[in-house]
Amino acid sequence: MDNRQKKGMNFIALTIFPEMFNPFWEHGIIRRAIDRNKIRVSAIDIRNFAEGKHRVTDDRPYGGGCGMVMKPEPLAAAIRAATQKAPLSKKILLTPQGRRFDSGVAHELSSSDGLILICGRYEGVDERICHDFIDDEISIGDYVLTGGELAAMVIIDAVTRLIPGILGGKESAEKDSFSGSVLEYAQYTRPRSFEGHNVPEILLSGDHQKIENWRLETSLIRTFLKRPDLLENKALSKQEIEILKKWCVDIEKIIHNQSLSGPGALSGGQ
Ligand code: ADE
Repeated sequence: MDNRQKKGMNFIALTIFPEMFNPFWEHGIIRRAIDRNKIRVSAIDIRNFAEGKHRVTDDRPYGGGCGMVMKPEPLAAAIRAATQKAPLSKKILLTPQGRRFDSGVAHELSSSDGLILICGRYEGVDERICHDFIDDEISIGDYVLTGGELAAMVIIDAVTRLIPGILGGKESAEKDSFSGSVLEYAQYTRPRSFEGHNVPEILLSGDHQKIENWRLETSLIRTFLKRPDLLENKALSKQEIEILKKWCVDIEKIIHNQSLSGPGALSGGQ
């Protein structure tokens, strides 16, 4: 049994604000994953590796310009210390310049031994760190955060829930939105009627086949309406293609009937 199987996947965040991670470790599924030895987590203060009385971690940029840059020495020392603790971990810099984090990247990272997540602050980190100390650069979206800490938490959260045994069975992670490139079907719980809106009858029918079909169809409808890009890139099953064809026939019928008798009817002028 290797280290990962014995002690769980190792996440180390390198940050100047380690306290930011405390509430994150202490709740919900992340807490449970730690308690069950599915993951190990720590946030290491980069300041511990900075020299001098004030343990300064940033400095002005060479060449001028506004903002401050994270100094290379404390970062390098922090990365080296983390690598000693977790030699097989991937070293990832959180930066808006990185490749975009998505479900595919989360799956890819979930099979690694561990992650060392370097949380940049200020205007960025000294380029020599990016060059020599990092395996990968990741962005969680096209916007600029005040630091990489929230991005690190997003990654830890999304990756942790993919680790087998974390959710109620592997099935839940696989059936989720994005993993099969369609959005999840509509979900309902009690009460049966809420503020005048009822739970769809079919879900109360007890007919599992019909429920399964209904879920697939609502999944496809939502994906088509909210994220058609996902549908375009998905390898559709035979059943999914049949559902889409049925919509086409239904839509054509509506157009046909309207063109004969509706306000836009071909014979009726405008
Ligand atoms: N640091 C600042 N902005 C970021 C982003 N969008 N993704 C990852 N790290 C960041």
